[in-house]
Amino acid sequence: MSIVIWIVLPYLCLTVFVIGHVWRWRHDQFGWTTHTSQLLESRILRLASPLFHLGAFGVIGGHAIGLLIPAGWTEAVGVSEHAYHVVAVWGGAFTGAMMCAGLALLIARRRLTPRVFRGTTVADKALFATLGTMALLGMTATVGVNLIGPGFDYRESLAVWFRGVFWLHPEPHLMVEAPLVYQAHALGGFLLLALWPFTRLVHVWSAPLAYLWRPYVIYRSRVGAPPVPMPPPAVVRRASAHGTNR
Ligand code: HEM
Repeated sequence: MSIVIWIVLPYLCLTVFVIGHVWRWRHDQFGWTTHTSQLLESRILRLASPLFHLGAFGVIGGHAIGLLIPAGWTEAVGVSEHAYHVVAVWGGAFTGAMMCAGLALLIARRRLTPRVFRGTTVADKALFATLGTMALLGMTATVGVNLIGPGFDYRESLAVWFRGVFWLHPEPHLMVEAPLVYQAHALGGFLLLALWPFTRLVHVWSAPLAYLWRPYVIYRSRVGAPPVPMPPPAVVRRASAHGTNR
């Protein structure tokens, strides 16, 4: 059973993740968007969206460090286990709380604004439910187990199994002993990957990062600007005959 859960299922989810993206790209490029509802409601969104996204960036950064970097490497560069633990737990609790607050607001806004709720698809509902469950499980692990609870060293077990999946050498016995909340959270992470291509999460791959370094678009006010000279009517007629003034 542990082979099915900790080896077969993760690879199944990763396969659906890859093939699902190819399918979505080939069949639904026009639907490859955030499906923003900003035009329908923007007051709550203005607070909820940055709160969720900034929190999520922090949580993703924490996951990258905690899951991908072996404990031996951080110790080798002088970060003691205690220092790592304090930063991970408090940093995780802070960014995780931001993410949860943002997500709760996004869900409440979607449910309580009729126009937004009407545009909510089944895929949206599945996505919000999965994200919400994952965030709560993650917070239970970080705050409930590692901040105020008995503690669990996921860097020597869960993280090793996680890296093993990508090295094609997963060790299921490392997950069998993990507390249930960690098991459910890790499995949920892979299930979210399988859901990913069929939801608005695909917008992550098309984030308009180029906006950060593209040149400014300069708008000039008409007020006080010198009048723009109109071309003579003959030029306008010639241009429209050739279709060049569209
Ligand atoms: C397979 C994928 C994933 C794995 C293996 C994983 C593993 C972990 C681990 C080990 C922790 C730290 C628990 C602790 O401090 O004791 C954690 C925390 C957390 N996770 Fe995940 N996670 C995964 C995916 C996700 C996803 C998709 C979300 C999105 C909602 C998420 C949200 C959180 C949150 C909010 C926390 C608490 C804050 C923090 O410590 O960063 N995780 N996760």
